[in-house]
Amino acid sequence: MLSTDIHLASEKLRSGEVVAFPTETVYGLGADATNESAIAKIYRTKGRPGNNPLIIHTDCVDSVARYVTLRERSRVMGQFLRLQHLWPGPLTIVFPDKHDSICDLATSGLTSVGVRVPNHPIARELLAATDLPIAAPSANRSTYVSATTAQHVSDCFGQDLFILDGGQTSVGLESTIVKIEENGPAQLLRAGLIRQEELSEALGELVELGPKLGGAPGREKDCAMLSPGQFRKHYSPKTPVRLFNDRGSLASFIEQNSKQSTGLLLFSKETAIHGKNSVLRTLSESGDHHECAQNLYAALRELDNRQLDLICIERPKNGPLYEALIDRIERAAEK
Ligand code: TXA
Ligand code: MG
Repeated sequence: MLSTDIHLASEKLRSGEVVAFPTETVYGLGADATNESAIAKIYRTKGRPGNNPLIIHTDCVDSVARYVTLRERSRVMGQFLRLQHLWPGPLTIVFPDKHDSICDLATSGLTSVGVRVPNHPIARELLAATDLPIAAPSANRSTYVSATTAQHVSDCFGQDLFILDGGQTSVGLESTIVKIEENGPAQLLRAGLIRQEELSEALGELVELGPKLGGAPGREKDCAMLSPGQFRKHYSPKTPVRLFNDRGSLASFIEQNSKQSTGLLLFSKETAIHGKNSVLRTLSESGDHHECAQNLYAALRELDNRQLDLICIERPKNGPLYEALIDRIERAAEK
């Protein structure tokens, strides 16, 4: 059910129900992180493996200390102070020690916990009114494309789910995730709008790339997964996706495979490609990365609904969101 009633949504969260709500990145599927049975509903609803921890959302930076154990004058405390001006915003910080009030299921049994203060008026009002730590993964079925409109959420979960409608999200890709630790460098676990360089500058030291972003694996010993969220297949439409290095190779593939029905996803207008069995979607006329990010998931979902044989995507050009865009597209293309 689509709604704009923030008060009702907050009551539902407080009584242990699952509610979908908009953030500036993608829609989230929220529940009370202190309530184990509410969190179990999230995993069930999404079909999410139990070893993939959730991000905790709160409306203000000052509340973080209620959900995370921070020691005075520790390195983690220092790094947190250096990063906190990036909140509210599309950044998740993984802290080494969750507070006991956050149930174990929310972090898949890890002691570490990801926290984010989203920058969306509806999310902030909802979080403030609820006054609880709200665990919220992206509001899509596990491995499917994230939702950037309330309708996307409803397409995934149907009428029974309570969905706060906040229109189209502005960023369009999930938050950047940085992990901070008492010993050892900060690690970028997921690329997003806030870039590695920006984090390194804020911290005054180099942020390393985590394993899935091409960094060295193996520092994470305390959990069953190398690093959670490492599942390669993610953000994937049902239709097969193929990635092309440039427009020329995409154009010749279309010419040679004209019998196949194809969706063509391009990052800029430039030279057009035509195929008689092709549906063309341009994410941004000018190739603006922010516009591409905002439109990517809606375009993927729309093409996926057309029963095509294949979705062809060209590699984005270099630009501010290259790492974030290529990460999502490579995983969409993963079999
Ligand atoms: O933009 C976003 O971050 C959205 C909105 C709703 O806030 N949420 C989101 O959640 O993308 P989700 O669950 O789809 O992705 C969270 C990622 C997963 O890859 C998970 O493994 C990782 O964050 N994560 C969560 N807690 C972690 C932890 N303690 N250590 C390492 N990774 C963690
Ligand atoms: Mg997700």
